[in-house]
Amino acid sequence: MVRAWYIEGDGLENPRDEHQRLPPKFITLEDLYKLTGVEHYSLNVDTYQTDGSLEKIKEERGYQYEDEVETPGEGDLQQMYAEHLHENEEIRFILEGCGYYDIRDNNDEWIRIEVLGGDLIVVPSGCYHRFMLDHTNVCRVKRIFLKDPQYTAHKRPVDNMDCRKEYLKKLENGAFEKEQ
Ligand code: LAC
Ligand code: NI
Repeated sequence: MVRAWYIEGDGLENPRDEHQRLPPKFITLEDLYKLTGVEHYSLNVDTYQTDGSLEKIKEERGYQYEDEVETPGEGDLQQMYAEHLHENEEIRFILEGCGYYDIRDNNDEWIRIEVLGGDLIVVPSGCYHRFMLDHTNVCRVKRIFLKDPQYTAHKRPVDNMDCRKEYLKKLENGAFEKEQ
């Protein structure tokens, strides 16, 4: 089951360094959405291909593209753990294993989201985030995209990008306060 919590300290703790873990201050998925715009869906990895759950989400949100990727290699992981944003939503459906999304909230604090098999997460365009595995080093995912996939990661700071300005405006205007 997905869990989200604030990271204490300087937020540099790497989830693979278990000894650095501090007791987490958990937050609800509703608060996660209000504070960051990050959305979560829970699917069944054993039945999603026949129960229509993923197709329903794709239809509702206009997603037309998907592919499957195995656990990222070390080089890719170092890139993924560098704080960045994308011009489009980042949509990942975890098929197997465990991953940690760190998301900057509306006060630029880190919120860590532990995602497991069955969790589908949507990181909004313009939202600073990073990603890491846990000590098991397994995380096979389905990447989902609106149309022609475009995964360019823009490393922080890129505050002059339109997508970043639009995201901050949404946060300021309470766009994510509305009930999901
Ligand atoms: C990505 C994740 C790691 O951009 O944020 O693929
Ligand atoms: Ni990303």
